[in-house]
Amino acid sequence: MRKRIVAGNWKMNLTLAEGKNLVEAIVAQLPALTDTREVVIAPPFTHITQTAAQLEEYAHISVGAQNCSSEAGGAFTGEVSATMLQSAGVGSVILGHSERREYFNETSELLVKKIAQAFNQNLRVIFCCGEPLSVRDANEQNNFVGKQIEEALFHLSAEEMNQIVIAYEPIWAIGTGRTATSAQAQEMHAYIRSMLQNKYGNDIAQKTSILYGGSCNAQNAAELFSCADIDGGLIGGAALKSEAFLAIISAMMSA
Ligand code: 13P
Repeated sequence: MRKRIVAGNWKMNLTLAEGKNLVEAIVAQLPALTDTREVVIAPPFTHITQTAAQLEEYAHISVGAQNCSSEAGGAFTGEVSATMLQSAGVGSVILGHSERREYFNETSELLVKKIAQAFNQNLRVIFCCGEPLSVRDANEQNNFVGKQIEEALFHLSAEEMNQIVIAYEPIWAIGTGRTATSAQAQEMHAYIRSMLQNKYGNDIAQKTSILYGGSCNAQNAAELFSCADIDGGLIGGAALKSEAFLAIISAMMSA
């Protein structure tokens, strides 16, 4: 059975003290997670050691990073390496988020290098993909997302692919309050799984967790997570409030 995962992406939000309070409130009411029901919290780099320490005694909830350098180390001012993340207790790293692609010009070529760095440190990669509104309006979303996946992931071995979680985040749904309908999301997730099936075979396709992201919240999570190919969510705004994030975790537990 593949893992269901709820991952909170805090983006560039919360002070250290606010982050501490939020994690405290989450762990205080965390349900019993399992091998197949997992939670990841991805705060800013500055918060990682604090969050890792807070989560240490809890099973199946871990700290993630929102990015890592494409370089192993050295004179790259302002960068944070996968080695550093690993040493700080990080288990997964989000790569290819649309905000990084758009505002920091991240290309598939760069993502290939970042993924290699993450894998060198045994970090699991939460790989984001998703189309802008113009592409959705032209009904070209499968080609667009398919190309993002092919370019950044399809050089990987089956063993490496096993360490990838895919997050489908349609750009038009991120932070807009306009969630994809569960039918739209399910259709894309099934398409992504069919791509994995064609390239890597049924075993990898069935094992790969595919998360939905984009205005996923306490109200719509249960319906989204009830879809056959939606294995959880990558949560932005709703991950900044303990009640909302716990409600989304609860929707995953009962899916
Ligand atoms: P929102 O949940 O705020 O739409 O953000 C989604 C996202 O980008 C998570 O990575």
